Amino acid sequence: MHKTINCGELRSSHIGETVTLAGWVHRRRDHGGVVFIDLRDRSGLVQVVFNPDLPEETMKIVANLRMEWVLQVTGAVQQRPEGQDNPKMPTGEIEVIASGLTVLNPSRALPFMISKEDEQQVEENVRLKYRYLDLRRERMSRNMILRHRVIKFMRDYLDKHGFIEIETPMLFKTTPEGARDYLVPSRVYPGQFYALPQSPQQLKQLLMVAGMERYFQIARCFRDEDQRGDRQPEFTQLDLEMSFVHRDDVLDLVEDLFTKMLPAVTPHKKQLASPWPRLTHAEALDRYGSDKPDLRFGMELHNVGDIFAKSEFMVFKDTLEKGGVIKCIAAPGCAEYTRKQLDGLTDLAREFGAKGLVTLGLTAEGSKGSGAKFITPEEIEALSQQTGAGQGDLILFVADELAAANRVLGTLRLHFRDALNLADRDLMAFAWVIDFPMFEWNEEEQRWDAAHHMFTMPQLENLDKFETDPASILSDAYDMVCNGYEMASGSIRIHRSDIQSRVFDLLGIKEEEAQRKFGHLLEAFEYGAPPHGGMAPGIDRLVMLLANEPNIREVIAFPKNSGARDVMADAPSPADEKQLKELHIKLDLKD
Ligand code: AMO
Ligand code: AMP
Repeated sequence: MHKTINCGELRSSHIGETVTLAGWVHRRRDHGGVVFIDLRDRSGLVQVVFNPDLPEETMKIVANLRMEWVLQVTGAVQQRPEGQDNPKMPTGEIEVIASGLTVLNPSRALPFMISKEDEQQVEENVRLKYRYLDLRRERMSRNMILRHRVIKFMRDYLDKHGFIEIETPMLFKTTPEGARDYLVPSRVYPGQFYALPQSPQQLKQLLMVAGMERYFQIARCFRDEDQRGDRQPEFTQLDLEMSFVHRDDVLDLVEDLFTKMLPAVTPHKKQLASPWPRLTHAEALDRYGSDKPDLRFGMELHNVGDIFAKSEFMVFKDTLEKGGVIKCIAAPGCAEYTRKQLDGLTDLAREFGAKGLVTLGLTAEGSKGSGAKFITPEEIEALSQQTGAGQGDLILFVADELAAANRVLGTLRLHFRDALNLADRDLMAFAWVIDFPMFEWNEEEQRWDAAHHMFTMPQLENLDKFETDPASILSDAYDMVCNGYEMASGSIRIHRSDIQSRVFDLLGIKEEEAQRKFGHLLEAFEYGAPPHGGMAPGIDRLVMLLANEPNIREVIAFPKNSGARDVMADAPSPADEKQLKELHIKLDLKD
């Protein structure tokens, strides 16, 4: 080794020892004669002192040292002089008095400072282009270490609970999860393509047919979809599958894993509730306007149609007559919002797709806002009864179809969470959402889609509704949600080919297409497939929340940027003519 100990590990117990360190120049201060260097390696920083009594040769090198040069330093650990302790640094009680110095490698001038990460807002594309420098920052290295601990905990836990880790192929066939596939052209088979798996879904089900009983994998998934802060073209799941289980066996295991993991990896994070709340999909939408509710704060949605059954206000009356709903939320302490603020909220609601927003501030002087004119004192009394809103609160109403009202108010609720700082970021509000609908009507394409995926088991008592009322069929799918994010999805799977065929039928997947795409799976189900189910937590989203980061790029070593590019390697990039030829590909770039 080039070093005998790590920089960040030095403590007063090492005083008197001679050590050799190796690391980067993090900071350099020249006190006219004495030069102080903060030397950094992954473990942290330590102060190294170069006194002018060192040989002239050495002091010449010291005078030329620049940021991020790589050094090897030998010296004696000593207590810092009286009054020069730095309680903010773990190594702040000691310093190393250098006796020898070797420059292992110099560095070019940096595109941004490593040491001043908080003071300098570096543009993200620059950080990503020089990701290897960005990762030297304390914040990023902390995130990488946290990610490692999370994955290590998962592996150890699952190993202890009888799971085995099995790798599945990347070069496979379409395994749809609702996004576009990334295709890989075959050189050997002209005109044919592998698809990168959107998840190992089919393969893990085949492993259950293969008798593996308890499988997991830290699995890379590939999805060509529009980017957002919590989405990447490739991302990582803790993918798991179990045989001979019911829904609650899967939920209990994953809940126990996460409950035990939290104190092990982030002891400062607290769980909102244990056991985790379970909401049906319908209840989550009804109370929070979202199928991934943030349960860290209240502000629930209320359906107040009954209160306005006799209202003459046209917006309410019309909506109720057309079979719509009137729902509201109450923002605590916002009754005195100005006209301008209320207009701002209305504009926001319109952006979220509302036709408008009725506002009602309950102030000491009476009611304010666009609803004040036509909401009667009796109605206000009834509203207070039902919603718990009182003086000082601002009630916001949306009149619309149920789904639209839920969506708008659910989004406004999150707006207030951030604006009023209602949610503690060190609280992890894990919850289960269960009883999802099996199918969703795709208005654009006039057909049914699978709400989770097409291998999900419908609830058996709903089987007779396939012909009569597909919208009301519930499935054995479940989501794990946390703080407003969908963290994981899973389901009990179809293990009978007759039920799988009925699902394909309803989805409009023809026998021929099913055979072509999934024939291997359907055939496998005919050789004694055990009942099975599983789920897949998204590791990037989990670590993002644990690290209090705003997006998943901050917890991935080499992410794509928000435009799905790798700006460091500059990928995607054109291929050589020769390569394309070998792959039997001709480009058609006209549009
Ligand atoms: P699903 O498609 O819901 O289910 O994905 C499971 C979890 O993976 C994470 N995730 C993502 N993370 C980052 N970027 C993305 N583009 C992205 N897409 C999904 C989310 C999500 O909850 N095979 C099923 C699981 C199963 O049924 O066992 C599946 O992949 O956290
Ligand atoms: P209008 O009749 O369009 O002038 O709207 C009167 C008030 O009701 C305005 O404050 C609108 O923002 C609000 N409004 C209109 N349509 C809706 C709706 N569907 N839900 C809630 N408020 C609405």
